Amino acid sequence: MGRSRYRERQWMYGGAGGWFRGRLMKPLIRVCIPVSADGYIADRDSSLAWKAAIDPDTLRCYSFEDGIGAVVMGRTAYGQSAAQSVWPHSAVPCYVLAHRDDVEAPPSGVHVWTDGVTSLAHHLKATITEGDIWVEGGSKVITSFLEEDLIDRFELRVVPVLLGGGIPLLSGINTPTWLALEGVEPLDDGVVAICYRRRAQA
Ligand SMILES: NC(=O)c1ccc[n+]([C@@H]2O[C@H](COP(=O)([O-])OP(=O)(O)OC[C@H]3O[C@@H](n4cnc5c(N)ncnc54)[C@H](OP(=O)(O)O)[C@@H]3O)[C@@H](O)[C@H]2O)c1
Repeated sequence: MGRSRYRERQWMYGGAGGWFRGRLMKPLIRVCIPVSADGYIADRDSSLAWKAAIDPDTLRCYSFEDGIGAVVMGRTAYGQSAAQSVWPHSAVPCYVLAHRDDVEAPPSGVHVWTDGVTSLAHHLKATITEGDIWVEGGSKVITSFLEEDLIDRFELRVVPVLLGGGIPLLSGINTPTWLALEGVEPLDDGVVAICYRRRAQA
């Protein structure tokens, strides 16, 4: 097991609650996303080509065997994933947030959710019995979850590149959200993995 995988397991199983958390408590809602050093998740062309310089294993947030029970993404991010020759999330259910249920012929296991993030979070916490919930992106979906205070873990893979513009990690939040540092680890190619958890508000 590589260093980063080991560390993920530490974060996943070694924190408060330990290994049994995954069995006894509700799943966590976890953002995990590669981000440029200046805070962008896609470049000015909405492209992820800048990530190609990095070994995909270094940027890979989770393997599903390691404890992800569902994936959540926005309609735009879904469109990019669905355009790949192989649907990458066939191992677990995927929920696509949208305002209209007009996504064309989603693959098996893909559910279009038009009832907003709060009801989706309740649904997932009630129905996902194995593993956590991975909010893959993009920016609008992460922001929606954050605005409703629904994110338990915020995990970044900071890539050492300045894009100078593009799609930011967040598309504007109204109030500062304080986080508590859970772990930091330098990975290959100058990537830094940072894991935060939600900090209880004073
Ligand atoms: N760095 C990475 O690894 C990574 C990972 C994922 C995505 N990305 C990038 O992120 C970009 C996409 O981000 P984005 O912010 O433009 O789009 P997004 O969050 O993927 O999707 C936005 C769309 O999702 C729907 N949506 C979002 N929040 C919603 C809510 N609360 N309720 C109902 N529907 C909601 C809306 O669809 P409708 O209103 O159209 O129905 C909205 O227009 C892409 O360029 C992608 O490459 C990067």
